[in-house]
Amino acid sequence: MVTEEQVRQELKELVVPGLTRTVDSMNLIQEVEISEGKVSITIASAGMTPIVQGVLRAKITKVVEKLEKGSEVEVEFVNVRPETLNKIKNVVAVMSGKGGVGKSLVAGLTAVSLKRMGYNVGILDADITGPSVPKMFGISERPAGDETGILPVLTKSGIRVMSVNLLLSAEDDAVIWRGPLIGKAIEQFWHDVHWGDLDYLIIDLPPGTSDAALTVMQTIPITGAVVVYTPQDLAMMIVRKAFSMAKSMDKPVLGVVENMSYIYIPELDKKVELFGASQADNMVKAAGAPLLAKIPVDPGLAKLCDEGRIEDYEVEFIKNLGENIIKSIADTKAAKKKEKETK
Ligand SMILES: Nc1ncnc2c1ncn2[C@@H]1O[C@H](COP(=O)(O)OP(=O)(O)OP(=O)(O)O)[C@@H](O)[C@H]1O
Ligand SMILES: [Mg+2]
Repeated sequence: MVTEEQVRQELKELVVPGLTRTVDSMNLIQEVEISEGKVSITIASAGMTPIVQGVLRAKITKVVEKLEKGSEVEVEFVNVRPETLNKIKNVVAVMSGKGGVGKSLVAGLTAVSLKRMGYNVGILDADITGPSVPKMFGISERPAGDETGILPVLTKSGIRVMSVNLLLSAEDDAVIWRGPLIGKAIEQFWHDVHWGDLDYLIIDLPPGTSDAALTVMQTIPITGAVVVYTPQDLAMMIVRKAFSMAKSMDKPVLGVVENMSYIYIPELDKKVELFGASQADNMVKAAGAPLLAKIPVDPGLAKLCDEGRIEDYEVEFIKNLGENIIKSIADTKAAKKKEKETK
C-alpha cells in the first residue's frame, strides 16, 4: 500500500486548474489518510469554484490511482481561513517620509529581485491612492475567489499581487476612501488573501507617516522596513520621521534605498549627481541600517514601468538589492535573538 508521504509527494507539484499555482505553493493539502485500500484526501478549497474543485478532484484521483492500482480514492474539500493556510516567512514594508520618491518602484524592483533568485514572492499594495503596482506589472485582472478568501493575481514571472486597485472598477475613485476604511481593507489583505507559501511579502506602504501607514505597521507582523529617499530630500527631518515611526513601533529598519541617486551618461561614461550629492552616508548613520541600493534616474526604467514590464528590467543593482535585503533580515534576526538571550 502507498504511504501518506508518497501521496503527498505526488500531489505537491500538481497545478490547480485555471489558477496556474501548484497545490504545494498554496499549502492546500490538509490531510491524507490511508486505510484498508482507501485513500482519503482533504483539500482546502481556497476560493476555488465548484468546477475547479471538480477538475482538481479528478486530477488527484488519477494521480493516486496510478500510485496504487485498484485503490479507492476520496477527495474532500473544506473551507479553511486563508490566514491558517498562509505561511509567510518574511514581511518587508517599503516606506518613505513623503510621496513620490519611488516607493512603489522600489517595492516592485525588490519583488523582481527576490523572485529572480527563485523565492516565492508576493506584493501587498497598501497604497490605494494610485494603481502603481498593478500598472508596473501590467496586470488588471480581477482577483478570483469567494467568501472563503481571495487569490492574488499572478504577474508574468509569478509574483503574487494583491491591490485594492485590482478590486475597484475603473470609475471608482479610491482617493476618497477615508483612513478607517483603508485600514480595514489592508487588514483583510492580510487575513483573507490566499497568499500560500511565501518567502517574502513586500508591502508598498501608503506615502509618508500617515494613519494608513501606521495601521499597516500595527496590524501586520512586519519583519522590517526599507526606507526610500531621494538626494533632493534635503529635509532629512522627513526621513527621520519615517525612521522614528518604524522604531516607535518596534519594527527594525532593514536599510535605506537612495532613489534617483545619479544619472549615467553613456557618451561620457560618467555618473552625474543630478539632484545633488548622495545622502547615503547621512542616511545610513541616521537609520543605523545599511544602504541597500543606489538607484539611478533611468528613463528606460520609467518606460518599462509605464508599459507594465518592470520584470524585464536587467541591471546589476537589482541583484544586489535582493541580496542585501536578505542579508539585512538575517542580521536583524540574529541581533534580536542575541538581545533575547542576554535579557
Ligand atoms: N529611478 C527612477 N528612474 C526613472 N523613473 C523613476 C525612478 N524612480 C521613480 N521613477 C518614476 O517616478 C514616478 C513615481 O515613482 P513611484 O510611483 O514609485 O513613487 P512613490 O513614492 O510610490 O509615489 P507615491 O507616494 O505617489 O506612492 C513613477 O512614474 C516612476 O516610474
Ligand atoms: Mg506609490
